[in-house]
Amino acid sequence: MEIPITFLLSFSILSFLIIIISLFSSSSTKKTTIYEPPSYPLIGSILSFNKNRHRLLQWYTELLRLSPTQTISIPLLGNRRTIVTTNPENVEYILKTNFFNFPKGKPFTDLLGDLLGKGIFNVDGHSWSSQRKLASHEFSTRSLRSFAFEVLKDEVETRLVPVLSTAADVGATMDLQDVLKRFAFDVVCKVSLGWDPDCLDLSRPVNPLLEAFDTAAEISARRATEPVYAVWKMKRVLNVGSERRLREAIKTVHVLVSEIVRAKKKSLEIGTGVEAKQDLLSRFLAAGHDGEAVRDMVISFIMAGRDTTSAAMTWLFWLLTENGEVERKILEEVDPLVSLGLGFEELKDMSYTKACLCETMRLYPPVSWDSKHAANDDVLPDGTRVKRGDKVTYFPYGMGRMETLWGKDWEQFKPNRWFDSEPGSIRPVLKPVSPFKFPVFQAGPRVCVGKEMAFMQMKYVVGSVLSRFEIVPVKKDQPVFVPLLTAHMAGGLMVKIKRRSQC
Ligand code: HEM
Repeated sequence: MEIPITFLLSFSILSFLIIIISLFSSSSTKKTTIYEPPSYPLIGSILSFNKNRHRLLQWYTELLRLSPTQTISIPLLGNRRTIVTTNPENVEYILKTNFFNFPKGKPFTDLLGDLLGKGIFNVDGHSWSSQRKLASHEFSTRSLRSFAFEVLKDEVETRLVPVLSTAADVGATMDLQDVLKRFAFDVVCKVSLGWDPDCLDLSRPVNPLLEAFDTAAEISARRATEPVYAVWKMKRVLNVGSERRLREAIKTVHVLVSEIVRAKKKSLEIGTGVEAKQDLLSRFLAAGHDGEAVRDMVISFIMAGRDTTSAAMTWLFWLLTENGEVERKILEEVDPLVSLGLGFEELKDMSYTKACLCETMRLYPPVSWDSKHAANDDVLPDGTRVKRGDKVTYFPYGMGRMETLWGKDWEQFKPNRWFDSEPGSIRPVLKPVSPFKFPVFQAGPRVCVGKEMAFMQMKYVVGSVLSRFEIVPVKKDQPVFVPLLTAHMAGGLMVKIKRRSQC
């Protein structure tokens, strides 16, 4: 049902537009200095785009390597021109210097609007800045940091470690990516909502909120890969295929989160203990937000914080199975800290582990690309002319793979590149790297508000897991990186778990 509808709609829209434009246009060979893939009058690069649709990351990266300015343009029939850049000066200009000219814009917020409503992740202007102010304030408080740390510790010690211990005892094969996703969902729900979905109880069916989030996030992200946006919009109007499934999943998310909000309001009115007021939802309610507004705010946090950390950790655990020496160095750093009891303060000493996480995200960024839409005509620092309404994408996946930025050995997993010299000391100091060269958390005023929380989580998990277990992949093949909204490993990471003492 779905394929024929998509195909027929695309085909009819394509034919219709070609005929109309042909009638009104005489010349189409406008000269441009910006590097483009093969493109044809009227239809732009749609043929190359469609040919490479299943490998857009690699295709963009190849084109960007060929471009003298590390910026390319993809003109697509019926859509605004897309400009993609891996040039750090451009990235700084878009994300910081001329921030207000590069909002997310309606075409982007339309993609996620049904799911995220008016939450921080999906709005611009005043609505964004007022939510950002509140979120930045809360994330800077010691009380939220220590609450998040207690949540994390409890989830690791009472759930993650027991799940891995059982797998080690029975010799089971498990999908580590799935386990980490469930783990991260529990943590982000407890921190954002003060509500525990208990997803690491593998004997129970998948939690309905997690399932609905997964479906909604995947289908919303696939909207962005349609070469002609009118296709998904038409399917939404007709309520067919993937758009029908999306509508159902979003309804489930909204109903379940609204129920949690109602229950939280009631418990706050009754005045339960202080710990019940530590989560973000309680803080937003206390700041006077209510109804759909507060529902959308917390949905944005769950969306932003759920799959990102699990994606980064999955890739790191896989990379370590290929790089024994790096794993040994992490253990050298972690073992003494774990024996003291890995606390909030000890995490600050894990700079080698942090370098490993950065190196992982350089090669496998959880958010592979991110787009803005120009509010007005502009010129990027490399001379690229931007027209009002153009989609302007900065591309962390491609940036991590540019020889010009990382040197000839860009392809190698080398955590040492994050230090000025070979990290021999007990507490090696990371060298400063421009966030515009490494924008995996974005950069500028809209930089990820959960960045420090994410590093805290990832360091704690990596330290706690590696000090106790060895992870042995079942297959030796190179896993496939799938971008979507948050990147993941196709087919998961199938592993056996061994206790360290048994190794
Ligand atoms: C490795 C982990 C993470 C990575 C790589 C990451 C990356 C990003 C990126 C690239 C953005 C910008 C997205 C955009 O504007 O379209 C972003 C925004 C955001 N992130 Fe993260 N994130 C991570 C973890 C987290 C966590 C754990 C939380 C919270 C619990 C979080 C909360 C947010 C929020 C609220 C925003 C929106 C900020 C705004 O628009 O002002 N992130 N993140």
